[in-house]
Amino acid sequence: MKVRILRQCSPEDKPHWETFDYNGPEDASVAAVLDYINYNDDIETDAGERTTRIIWDCSCLQGICGACAMVINGRPALACETLLRDLNCDELVLRPLRKFPVIRDLMVDRSSIQENLRKSGMFIGEYSGSDSREHEQQYSVSKCLKCGLCLEVCPNYTDGKTFFGAAFANDCYVVASRSSGKAGDIRKTYAEHFENGCSKSLSCMDVCPMKIQTIASMAKMNRMRNPR
Ligand code: FES
Repeated sequence: MKVRILRQCSPEDKPHWETFDYNGPEDASVAAVLDYINYNDDIETDAGERTTRIIWDCSCLQGICGACAMVINGRPALACETLLRDLNCDELVLRPLRKFPVIRDLMVDRSSIQENLRKSGMFIGEYSGSDSREHEQQYSVSKCLKCGLCLEVCPNYTDGKTFFGAAFANDCYVVASRSSGKAGDIRKTYAEHFENGCSKSLSCMDVCPMKIQTIASMAKMNRMRNPR
């Protein structure tokens, strides 16, 4: 199998494509394919040219840290959770997420996700207890990996400066429903950085590896804004 990878030596460099041969197991994950190609210190492209190891991010290799998020054959996904046999293709094409600055090769800087949460005061202050009817959605939201896949497909998320996207909306719901005295402020920042910019394509839910129902968080935030 051919593996085409969009590479970039540094944040300032222009990206370029390199192609590699992969002759490993057919049931490997995309993460295992990258490990296979990187096995030697000096690796070669399919044209026999020496090149450097491919840089990519990973930690858990079990779909729980979100570090290996990238675009795989045109679809944003986790490399460690994506299996070649499910892709059913002759060629594997890998590129970094496009909504974040590239650090190198397939590794991007997603710190804007955390920074936006921090700037918006998205942490639970004085805990107000939890309504048991909310547990299901709160538990679902707590599984967010902050991997950035939802932002990659979002038509409204561009540079993360005004519209903060689905991960932010879900955190708004949790903080507003659990912190006493913060709900008013959170509703305001939710409107400013999510509600007013969301066109409700809900493509975020299609790619979420944790299957988080962002639409349920949105409905709950709406109810908080319009109490009956
Ligand atoms: S390495 Fe942790 S989710 Fe893939």
